[in-house]
Amino acid sequence: MTLLITGGAGFIGSNFILDHLAHADESVINLDRLTYAGNAENLAALQGDVRHTLVCGDIADRALVGRLLAEYPPRAVVHFAAESHVDRSIRGPEDFIQTNIVGTFRLLETVRAWWSALPSPQQRGFRFLHVSTDEVYGALAPDAAPFAEGHQHQPNSPYSASKAAGDHLVRAWFQTYGLPVLTTHCSNNYGPYQFPEKLIPLMIVNALAGQPLPIYGDGLQVRDWLYVGDHCRALEHVLAAGSPGETYNIGGQCEQTNLRIARTLCALLDRLRPKPDGRSYAEQITFVADRPGHDRRYAINAGKIARELGWKPAETLATGLLKTVQWYLDHPEWLAHVQTGAYRKWMNRHYGAMPT
Ligand code: NAD
Ligand code: DAU
Repeated sequence: MTLLITGGAGFIGSNFILDHLAHADESVINLDRLTYAGNAENLAALQGDVRHTLVCGDIADRALVGRLLAEYPPRAVVHFAAESHVDRSIRGPEDFIQTNIVGTFRLLETVRAWWSALPSPQQRGFRFLHVSTDEVYGALAPDAAPFAEGHQHQPNSPYSASKAAGDHLVRAWFQTYGLPVLTTHCSNNYGPYQFPEKLIPLMIVNALAGQPLPIYGDGLQVRDWLYVGDHCRALEHVLAAGSPGETYNIGGQCEQTNLRIARTLCALLDRLRPKPDGRSYAEQITFVADRPGHDRRYAINAGKIARELGWKPAETLATGLLKTVQWYLDHPEWLAHVQTGAYRKWMNRHYGAMPT
C-alpha cells in the first residue's frame, strides 16, 4: 500500500508522515516543492527508511505527478501542499493563487486522469483527502456559534480565498467526475516543526532571542488551538472511515485570545528557561499595527467527526503547549537552521517598519 502525500516536508505534513510511519507499514511518496516552508530536516528521523521517498517537485507539474502515480499507485492522496501564511498572502498573493488554486486544480486533473483508468474496485477504494482550513468560513462574532460544516464560505484574506477556491474545485471534482474526495477544515495548529513565522513558534523564538513579541492590534482576536498530533490523528480517522464527498471540521474546543497565548508561553518559558536577571519574558510583549482584514474570531464545532468517526483530541492546551515549548528548547539546531537569511529578510520586511 502507498500514500502520496503533497507538502509532506512542511509543518503538518511532516508530523503526519512521522506519526503515520510510526504505526503503519506502508510506503509514503512525499511530493514537496521545498519552498521556504518545506524542510527535509523535519524528516531526518526517516533517513534510510525505505518506506519514505521525498520527491522535490511541484503539485502543478502534471508530467511529474503523472509519473509518480503510474510508478507508485497510491491508495490515497493526502493533499497538504499550500502556501499557508496569511501575512505573506497579504504582502504577495500571487504564489497563493498559483499553488492553492492552480496547483490544486492541476493535481485534481492529473489524479482524475490516472484514477479514471483504474479497475473499478481500486477506483472505489481510492481517496483524495484535501486538507483545508477553518479560515475559509470567515470571522465569527463574539457570541456566534462555532463553525459547523454547513457554514458559508466567506474568506477574508488572499490565503483563505485561495484555500476556499481549492475547496470548491475539490467539491466539483466529486460532483462532476465522481472522484472520491474528502475535505477537512481544521483550526489553528501548533507543535513541533512549525516554521517560526506563525504566532506560537514566533513568540518562543523571539522571547529566547530577547526580541519584541509582536501582538497585532489589541491582541484580543480569538483562535481555536489544536495540537498538531491531534490533527494528524483526525486525518487518519477521515482517511479510514470518512464518506466520499463529505467535509469534516476538526478543532480542539480551545478558544484563546492571542494575548493570553503569548502570556501563557512567557509563563512556561519563565519556568523552563528562566532569565538570568529573574525578569519575565512577558515584558517583551509589544503591541504592533493590526493585520489588514484580520479575522476577529474562529471556533470549530467538531461534533460531526466525534459522532461519526469517533475522534476527539488527546491533548489539552496546557499539555500541548508544554510539549511544544519543550520541543523548541530541545531543538536549537533545527531552529538555527530555519532562521536563514531569507527568514531574517522576511522578518525585517514584515515587522521592520511596523508602527507600535
Ligand atoms: P506549511 O507552510 O508548513 O507547509 C506547506 C508545505 O507545502 C511546504 O513543505 C512547502 O514546501 C510545500 N509546498 C508549497 N507549495 C508547493 C507546491 N506548489 N508543490 C509542492 N509542495 C509545495 O503549511 P502547514 O501549516 O503544514 O499546512 C499544511 C496544510 O494544512 C495547508 O494546506 C494548510 O492550508 C492547512 N492547514 C494548516 C493549519 C495550520 O494551523 N498550520 C490549520 C488548518 C489547515
Ligand atoms: O485557522 C487555521 C489557520 O491558522 C491556517 O489555515 C493557517 O495556515 C495558519 O497560518 C493559521 O492562520 P492564522 O493567521 O490564524 O495564524 P498565525 O499564527 O499567523 O496568527 C495567529 C493569530 O496571531 C492571528 O490572530 C494573528 C496573530 N499574530 C500573528 C503573528 C504572526 C500576532 O498577533 N502577531 C504575529 O506576529
